[in-house]
Amino acid sequence: MKINGVHYRSIALNDDGWSVRIFDQRALPWELVHVQLTTLEQAARAIAEMWTRGAPMIAATAAYGLSLGLREDASDAALQKGYETLLATRPTAVNLRWALDEMLSAVKPYQGQARIDAAYKRAGEICDEDVEINRNIGLSGLPLLREMAKKKSGAPLNILTHCNAGWLATVDYGTISAPIYMAHDEGIDIHVWVDETRPRNQGALLTAYELQQHGVPHTVIADNAGGLLMQRGQVDLCLVGTDRVTRNGDVCNKIGTYLKALAAHDNNVPFYIALPYPTIDYSMESGDFIPIEERSAREVTHMSGRKADGSVEEFQITLSDGANPAFDITPARLVSGYITERGILKQVCNGESDEPIFMADVA
Ligand code: MRU
Repeated sequence: MKINGVHYRSIALNDDGWSVRIFDQRALPWELVHVQLTTLEQAARAIAEMWTRGAPMIAATAAYGLSLGLREDASDAALQKGYETLLATRPTAVNLRWALDEMLSAVKPYQGQARIDAAYKRAGEICDEDVEINRNIGLSGLPLLREMAKKKSGAPLNILTHCNAGWLATVDYGTISAPIYMAHDEGIDIHVWVDETRPRNQGALLTAYELQQHGVPHTVIADNAGGLLMQRGQVDLCLVGTDRVTRNGDVCNKIGTYLKALAAHDNNVPFYIALPYPTIDYSMESGDFIPIEERSAREVTHMSGRKADGSVEEFQITLSDGANPAFDITPARLVSGYITERGILKQVCNGESDEPIFMADVA
């Protein structure tokens, strides 16, 4: 992803070869703030307080966070404590547990410096794999966008998305954004409706910023506007990311996704999920069991924004108490397909084994 013409990954090692650079996503789009992580505790804080966020990006940060922790203490006890500290940062995205388990398997056979080296190696691989996964999600989704665009006879293909499942939520490319960028780059006329995504406004602040940087036409809408746009025929496709998909295909994503899926179903608008395989939780039968993160009510009762003088400030927007469930579950029956790095799935597992059913095989 390029920002003002410079290519970045969302997370990378600094030139010192061990400290980790992320962006403070809370400051975007107003300012590009580079943050240097040097300890496991800082990495845990960055995830819990959402300096960095999005399921694959949380996983990548945790992987490097564990590596930072081992630099200070590579003992078995410190490894276990670091694992638990990082796992407790955010409960919903299964990618966090996946990455930490990958790290445990990679470092457990070693001790001392060899363990630290193994940790950095696996964390680097997790990041590189994520980039490749997202590129391949793009390649899987591109033919779908091409087909849909053909039917528009020259009119723009209108895609609605919710939250941020773009580059900032991954190491590079993004899940939903990879096919969008590829389609845009090959000249397909695409326009994205960007849900603002209250309460933290990841759509208005982050997705819109990314699309603007890539030159993709887009419009920010209030979360409640999607239903009307679908009734009017102004949405051709909904495309969202996910934090966890269960064996039966239920999809957990940012609060408000379910309402978009209901509206899409009622209006015959295809509703697709873009996801990497590590987001599929084969150990969980259905969305009923997914832990839904309850975040601080302050994210609902307060908002921040830029004032006319350029300063960014937080404002209180209600006198009342708030509640802040951060994710919801979209039942599998409302999902048209799952765009993964291996192709588009009709079902994430065939019911008997963990083998998926590909769209191409049922078409
Ligand atoms: O609370 P967030 O901002 O971490 O939530 C992010 C989302 O819900 C994304 O859509 C999801 O993680 C997919 S990211 C590729």
